[in-house]
Amino acid sequence: MKSLVILWSFLTGVFGEGMQQCGETLTGDSGSIVSPDYPKEYPNNSLCTWTILPQPPTEYPIILTFEEFFLDESDDCLSEHVSISNFDWATFCGENAPSTLEISDPSITIIFVSDDIPSPTMDRRFNITYRIDNGCDVEWKRFQDSCYYSDYTERKEFQLSDAQEACQAMGADVTSVHTQEEDEFIASQVQTSFNYIGARTGRDFPGDPFDFEFLDGTLSDYHNFNDAGAILDSLSWVVLTVDQWKNFPCDEGRPFICEYDGIPPIDIVPIGSTFDTAISICSVKGGNLIKIQDQGKREEVMRIFLNKYEPFPTKFWIGLRRNAATGEWNWVEDGSQLTYDNWAPGFPTRLPNHDCAAMVPSTWATVGGWAFGWTCKKSHDGISFHTFNRVLEFDPEP
Ligand SMILES: *[C@@H]1O[C@H](CO)[C@@H](O)[C@H](O)[C@H]1NC(C)=O
Ligand SMILES: *[C@@H]1O[C@H](CO)[C@@H](O)[C@H](O)[C@H]1NC(C)=O
Repeated sequence: MKSLVILWSFLTGVFGEGMQQCGETLTGDSGSIVSPDYPKEYPNNSLCTWTILPQPPTEYPIILTFEEFFLDESDDCLSEHVSISNFDWATFCGENAPSTLEISDPSITIIFVSDDIPSPTMDRRFNITYRIDNGCDVEWKRFQDSCYYSDYTERKEFQLSDAQEACQAMGADVTSVHTQEEDEFIASQVQTSFNYIGARTGRDFPGDPFDFEFLDGTLSDYHNFNDAGAILDSLSWVVLTVDQWKNFPCDEGRPFICEYDGIPPIDIVPIGSTFDTAISICSVKGGNLIKIQDQGKREEVMRIFLNKYEPFPTKFWIGLRRNAATGEWNWVEDGSQLTYDNWAPGFPTRLPNHDCAAMVPSTWATVGGWAFGWTCKKSHDGISFHTFNRVLEFDPEP
């Protein structure tokens, strides 16, 4: 195969100038590489180089699929070919390409060369797609050894049994949670302000916070019930709900929570707004973004969320902002300093511009009746962490 590398340098070095250059670097999780002018015939004398370099770099294999492959045929594929770096510059021409390749290297380079002698009978085009194989179904996310899928419904009275039915139809269960890392991963994926975890509490709950069982039968060895005590009843279902705070750039659009001397005194506005716009909208009714100065207020806000009878988004501005000069966090309502702290683990970060605080999905509460969001979990299918590149399927023309 070394001769092909030499051929490649020869083509680029000697004929490179007269050839039509093309190609690009692809950084997404999936995409397609098609011949120039696709789906029309590719031009004569093309020389294209594509690099697939997913960002962030993937630890999982990349699957290449030759969806369409029609090149002119030639001896040893010298005059026209597609060549792949990861198989020692293996070259393909005619219709003889493997249908699927699995590549474990962090990047892939694909080169295409055409000449100016089109065969009269052949189509001249190709389409090669790629995707990262994380060992999970399409749209499922991988975390450690499991695959997760978060979704929500608009359906009223959607119960834990309905969520379990939806997960079981996909070969999964409503998720169990066993570590803080897993908990934070699930919280980062959920679609609504409170979401089922696959657990129901027992008679000794909440006196014994470990008296609950996961629907997937795994041990109750971790919990994250909030210490504000919001709706912790025995014989109910467990949800992950918005509670703790994280800091974000103030110009991001987020829903927000206003507080006034009115009825209701606390109002959740589910319309994405920057932090400053949110303050102006609250002030129209004579209020401000909410100040959560103690455990009682925190529980009050959580209860309002848990009683929302429609699916709500996940991250809400509260009236807490970092003073750029002093670095202190102050409540915008009265400029007072933070005395009661409900930051999520690892927050606030010192990232530049991340000067405004929002309530995010974080701790667990219980609900008696219904929720809109849920997360399913199942084990991955075993494809992962390959260290060899391999041809998964090859159907040469008869
Ligand atoms: C390629 O060149 C040949 C002549 O050598 C010409 O007949 C053909 O139309 C050209 N193909 C394209 C796509 O320009
Ligand atoms: C290549 O083929 C795939 C699968 O058929 C298709 O989804 C994709 O849109 C094609 N690429 C282009 C650029 O047409």
